[in-house]
Amino acid sequence: MPDGTPPRKLVEVQDLKMHFPIYGGVLRRRVGEVKAVDGVSFDIHEGETLGLVGESGCGKSTCGRAVLRLYEVTDGAVRIEGENIADWSPEHLRKVRPKMQMVFQDPQASLNPRMTVASIIGEPLDEHTKQSKKAKLDRVYHLMDAVGLNRDFANRYPHEFSGGQRQRIGIARALALNPRFIVCDEPIAALDVSIQAQVVNLLEDLQEEFGLTYLFISHDLSMVRHIADRVAVMYLGKIVELAPRDALYDAPLHPYTQALLSAVPEPDPSLEARTERIILKGDVPSPAKPPKGCNFCTRCPQVMDICRQTEPVYREVSPGRFTACHLQDGHTPQTQQQQQAPDAGQPAPARRHEQNQQGEDK
Ligand SMILES: Nc1ncnc2c1ncn2[C@@H]1O[C@H](COP(=O)(O)OP(=O)(O)O)[C@@H](O)[C@H]1O
Ligand SMILES: [Mg+2]
Repeated sequence: MPDGTPPRKLVEVQDLKMHFPIYGGVLRRRVGEVKAVDGVSFDIHEGETLGLVGESGCGKSTCGRAVLRLYEVTDGAVRIEGENIADWSPEHLRKVRPKMQMVFQDPQASLNPRMTVASIIGEPLDEHTKQSKKAKLDRVYHLMDAVGLNRDFANRYPHEFSGGQRQRIGIARALALNPRFIVCDEPIAALDVSIQAQVVNLLEDLQEEFGLTYLFISHDLSMVRHIADRVAVMYLGKIVELAPRDALYDAPLHPYTQALLSAVPEPDPSLEARTERIILKGDVPSPAKPPKGCNFCTRCPQVMDICRQTEPVYREVSPGRFTACHLQDGHTPQTQQQQQAPDAGQPAPARRHEQNQQGEDK
């Protein structure tokens, strides 16, 4: 991105919520909801890669799909180039759909086993263009070149390829209609470690070549550090922290980010001793029954009383750095201890547990 000019926002997500209904009982009545994504806000700048990280089940895929309007969202807004995508008619959505694509985790499951590679990659062209057969095949060959697949294999079937090659097929298909924005949902998680880097490098090269903007979803913090310009950390349906990559990895603000990063192996052994591993106690609460107050309060090593009562506001605490944590709002464990009776100060696990059970739906 050129220096000086403010980055242009391609995608703006505002207080996005995606709640899935839970039906129960003999009458299959709606008895609750899974708050898979529960009020997230972020922007993605033109040409950048925004990493979205967090443990399995925290809502990353749901968030990625909601941003592409593969779901009718519960609440909030997604704007692409300033337009609220919820306002788009089905016809308009069909017209702009090619500009926003998704690359999936499991290339095996997302490719039709009965179609040849050429027909898989060319299918979006059939659906959205009126090109001649010859022009389509030329385009397919060109795409195969771009992702490093041998043209001679155009008439083979997905099962004849390795996992890494299948992911290349998925990427070529996603690129067929010249998208501008691609959600990469754990695109390398199902691949052998030895070929993960190749696919990541390919995504980076394609980004450069075609000026693509990525939302890169992963649970692998080392990989995200490599590819992302900025990183958002999700926990239980919410973004707890979002920051430029180096700021986040060098000085994480949120206790959850600190814990996640402390578990990433440090390649430099001289630094290893300095970083103490933070082990989080307990399990992630159910997204159908998030705790009262801060979502992370049941596991936070620095939990304070206020965290169990009041949800911290997600805000920009310094330029470009966003977090939702009472520690950033002038509350400290020390001031709290001073206010309390001496024996009530420590966050005893038993109390946390009790609180967890009381924690009711918000
Ligand atoms: N279609 C759905 N219906 C009901 N619950 C869902 C659906 N999709 C996802 N969930 C739930 O939403 C939560 C977040 O899931 P997901 O977005 O897949 O997380 P991640 O990608 O971070 O692993 C999980 O608890 C999951 O079970
Ligand atoms: Mg997922």
